[in-house]
Amino acid sequence: MSDEARSPLTPRDRLPRHVAIVMDGNGRWAQQRSLPRTAGHREGARTVRRVVQACNERGIEVLTLFAFSSENWRRPRREVEVLMNLFLTTLRSEIRRLDTANIRLRFIGDPGAFSATLQSYIVKAQQRTAGNTGLTLVIAANYGGRWDIAQAARRVAEDVAAGRLQPADVTPAVLHPYTCLSDLPELDLFIRTAGEQRISNFLLWQLAYTELYFTDRLWPDFDVDDLEAACAAFASRQRRFGLTAEQIARGGHA
Ligand code: IPE
Ligand code: IPE
Ligand code: MG
Repeated sequence: MSDEARSPLTPRDRLPRHVAIVMDGNGRWAQQRSLPRTAGHREGARTVRRVVQACNERGIEVLTLFAFSSENWRRPRREVEVLMNLFLTTLRSEIRRLDTANIRLRFIGDPGAFSATLQSYIVKAQQRTAGNTGLTLVIAANYGGRWDIAQAARRVAEDVAAGRLQPADVTPAVLHPYTCLSDLPELDLFIRTAGEQRISNFLLWQLAYTELYFTDRLWPDFDVDDLEAACAAFASRQRRFGLTAEQIARGGHA
């Protein structure tokens, strides 16, 4: 697209504060080029770098990326191995760049299934960047939305068993702090690439009032213009949170 044709950027105060992406289509991207699926994952890792940098520069506060679902273990063993290696090598090669760019790295999911080396890199990467004040980059790895709700319920049950909480006290507001990402801004915009229109067990609890955006673009081809298009779509929507359009027009009051 020429610069003249490019539409103006979404103003900063209309941007989503928290964006989550299901990065889908790596396999199809590779298939279209008669390459092994793993080549698509490598190219997808390059897209991650581009999108992270763009979000950081645009002042988006949180970017949550679905890197590996709790169901992805069911893929062929060789593909899982390549994904784990890519995860480790990318973390190793990018951590300095992320730190220098003032990005804070977080991981959500159950790290227990990863190799000891990967687990220790995850801990180190989080520690090293914990004080950074730019973009918070959340990597969902061995994450499942149902796992998240179950781990929250388990910890609530522990507090009930210890007498710190009564069963009758358990409301959505009480459960919320036990779920992943509860200390971060609410999830504003969900993007899924590659034409699939499903959640695939991503952030179930957190998606309650998130705007959903689907694009046919395969993840390795997703670029800054696609991110801008998603942000523009978000900015054009009226979020009502159960109110009427008229109430919103009056400033959200009855
Ligand atoms: C997403 O791309 C990457 C992961 C799930 C790790 P896919 O590998 O799912 O790509 P498609 O859906 O087969 O094209
Ligand atoms: C979701 O994509 C998981 C990630 C992007 C990491 P999948 O490609 O695994 O989802 P399904 O299987 O098509 O629902
Ligand atoms: Mg897929």
